[in-house]
Amino acid sequence: MSWLISYEAPATPPPALDWERLPFGRIFSQHIALAYFQNGKWDEARLQPFQDFRLHPATHALHYGQALFEGMKAYQRPDGTRFVFRLEDHARRLNLSAARLSMPPIPLDLFETLLRELLLKESYLFPPTLKQAIYIRPFYFATDPYVGVRTSESYLFAIFLSPVGPYYTQPVAAYVETEYSRAAPGGTGNVKMAGNYATALISNARAQAADCQVTLWLDACEKRWVEEFSTMNVFFVWKDGRVTTPSLERGTILAGVTRDTILALLQAAGHPTEARDISIQEVIEGITSGTLVEVFGTGTAATVIPITALHYQGKRYELSAAQPTIAEKARAAYYSLLAGETTLQPDWIWKI
Ligand code: COI
Repeated sequence: MSWLISYEAPATPPPALDWERLPFGRIFSQHIALAYFQNGKWDEARLQPFQDFRLHPATHALHYGQALFEGMKAYQRPDGTRFVFRLEDHARRLNLSAARLSMPPIPLDLFETLLRELLLKESYLFPPTLKQAIYIRPFYFATDPYVGVRTSESYLFAIFLSPVGPYYTQPVAAYVETEYSRAAPGGTGNVKMAGNYATALISNARAQAADCQVTLWLDACEKRWVEEFSTMNVFFVWKDGRVTTPSLERGTILAGVTRDTILALLQAAGHPTEARDISIQEVIEGITSGTLVEVFGTGTAATVIPITALHYQGKRYELSAAQPTIAEKARAAYYSLLAGETTLQPDWIWKI
């Protein structure tokens, strides 16, 4: 099916961008792409100037939380090739989130058409180097003007863009949260719903008080198993060369696309990897005894970020990895994939 997209141009010319000093998530595209679901089908799509929404005060998502999002990146290689990284995997995860929140699926060709049109109109946002990217924010929420707990019948799916530099510009230490939990089995921890982030914010102040920049979440039932950071997935590097990351089997961890990419890159480079249950005890004992040599995080926004220390039960455990670290190697392999110097799966590169 081809989607009819109405178009309205922005009134002002594109702004100049200071590529070396791009903040994360504060500069937005001139256009936004919108698609409306009503009467049981997707029936209106638009590309229009980026502007505020007018929302009915009873908008269902604001009260009952049917709201989700994705985060992807588009890049430009030195030879001018422009692409989105692993678009289909993000689209698949978006629809897993939608299914969990009882929202209708978004047809892949609608998603692709909106995104392609948006990126073509916003060509000035493509950065000159791979140090910067276009962060793509698709989001999707229930719009019924109705007070009552039932599945909404109308929805808005939208995509905007944001030119970005690094998400973290300072070293990152992690606060291990032992009271609150992020996700429980059977809940929504493995999907990208907006509310997951809202319930996790309460730990930020504690993390800051402990001079940490992220929270490391433990499982909700026993507070024993490591799950993920507040902004990314977690990896551990052991002295014997094994690289481990928590398994997705409990259904409480987001199946990070960068997590999956880094696992594949490490395997391709011959590193033994394991996705399994990892207890906080094993981690702390590993740091203390020197058998755990490195901790790092992975995410679309963060890419690959070494963790400098863990704060657990009132004590700080510093991590001082030998150079060059696996995190650095994984990061270099990731960027070489983006640069087109290596290829793992050709369909990960969605060319524009
Ligand atoms: C992403 O990595 O895309 C996220 O949504 C996480 C957030 C910290 C920006």
